[in-house]
Amino acid sequence: MNNAVILAGGQGKRMKADIPKPMFKVLEEPMLEWVIKACEEAELSNLCIVKGYMAEKIDEYLNGRYETVLQSERLGTGHAVMQSVPFMEKNGGGNTLVLCGDAPFIDSETIKKSLELHENENNSITVITAEIDDPEGYGRIVRGESGITSIVEEKDATAAQREIKEVNSGAYWFKTSDLIEYLGELTRNNAQGEYYLTDSVFIALNKGRNVNAYISENPNVVLGANDRKGLLALNTAARMAVIEKHLENGVEFNCIDGIVIGRDVEIEAGTEIMAGTHLRGKTKIGKDCRIGPNCIIDDCEIKDGVSLNYVQAFKSTIDAGVKIGPWVHIRPGSHIKSGVKIGDFVEIKNSIIGEGTAVAHLTYVGDSDVGKKVNFGCGTVTVNYDGIVKSRCEIGDNCFIGCNTNLIAPVKLGKAVYTAAGTTITRDVPDYALAIDRGVVKIKEGYSLTKLKKRLEKA
Ligand code: UD1
Ligand code: CA
Repeated sequence: MNNAVILAGGQGKRMKADIPKPMFKVLEEPMLEWVIKACEEAELSNLCIVKGYMAEKIDEYLNGRYETVLQSERLGTGHAVMQSVPFMEKNGGGNTLVLCGDAPFIDSETIKKSLELHENENNSITVITAEIDDPEGYGRIVRGESGITSIVEEKDATAAQREIKEVNSGAYWFKTSDLIEYLGELTRNNAQGEYYLTDSVFIALNKGRNVNAYISENPNVVLGANDRKGLLALNTAARMAVIEKHLENGVEFNCIDGIVIGRDVEIEAGTEIMAGTHLRGKTKIGKDCRIGPNCIIDDCEIKDGVSLNYVQAFKSTIDAGVKIGPWVHIRPGSHIKSGVKIGDFVEIKNSIIGEGTAVAHLTYVGDSDVGKKVNFGCGTVTVNYDGIVKSRCEIGDNCFIGCNTNLIAPVKLGKAVYTAAGTTITRDVPDYALAIDRGVVKIKEGYSLTKLKKRLEKA
């Protein structure tokens, strides 16, 4: 059986933050998650993650999804892999892929093709490498007449070796039993006093075993982030790759300023995405929509022809032809049905809004089931929380809700109910009724004249 061991014990001192480096995010997903996904796509399910610095943050994130082992002191990549020996012994026999949790762009294609080479050549070690213009900081691949002879780290390299452009991605396939053997022979005789996993290449060759390099067609597989600038570069590369994919699919971008789209977002042709828009999670957007400027759409399903302007929407469904914005918050669990119009300063939470309903301004609709063609007057509030329990409101088709109506949940308005402006509804209203709750207005003529005089004299 084949295993994968992901090294995620490092701190990343130059990031200057108290989180393990592999937890820093590229396109809003931890780098570690990118590496895990590449394994999953390559159908490697037997994973072990080596944690060390602030291990609890890794545990919290993984939430038991995969096996982890703790490296309690950071003595190098070889030492990190040593911690996973019990895991490898349990699943011995096949090959083990070792990966760095801080190099997010390793892909399933590279993993599969390098394994093919590894197996076809009966290699003990297959190092995944890439040729890059700026090799600084990476381990260099030293080659002799019969192929790779060793990997030297930047700090241990001679001036001539530093010129080498082929670098170690930090990802390798090992025969599992060989790897366990090499780990026992690593020493700390190097510039950093660490157990270098890379020394296993030299050890294997000395034992007369096959070692080769798989040169990746995608040089980004080596890219890692050692500081904030490197992380920004990774984000920029990932962001542009996603935008380019959507451009090819016929999505319109007239300006990409501030646009960030997650890898799993799907968008159909003919839709326009405008500046300042973040599309996240498993969001799906249909054709001919106008999204933006300045929207955050997270885990939503948006059907065809929808227009969203300055909208934040989370875990909700928006049906075809809906127009929303500006300054609208759609909170989780909402379903906005076709033909609905929602205008400025409206919040919708965990509610169904029926076909053709209008919520034009300054309104809160929470925990409600709203029918078709309802009109909400300005300032309507569903009072859904009494401090202890949340209750639902039901609003029938064709209701006309006057401005500043409070609906004290649980309450039901029947079909085509009218509520007078300023009414507080505390009990159910039957079909076709008017609910009005108003004191008599008293008018005292001339009342303000004496007051006004005093005020003006004072000024
Ligand atoms: C390593 C390789 C280098 C390669 C580079 C690719 C070695 C000796 N060097 O160098 O050849 O070009 O990766 O990015 O292997 N980690 C632990 N515990 C430790 C040390 C590291 O879990 O004690 C983890 C880190 O979290 C990181 C990965 O191992 O995810 C790589 O460690 P890092 O210190 O970044 O190695 P590099 O110096 O980049
Ligand atoms: Ca690194």
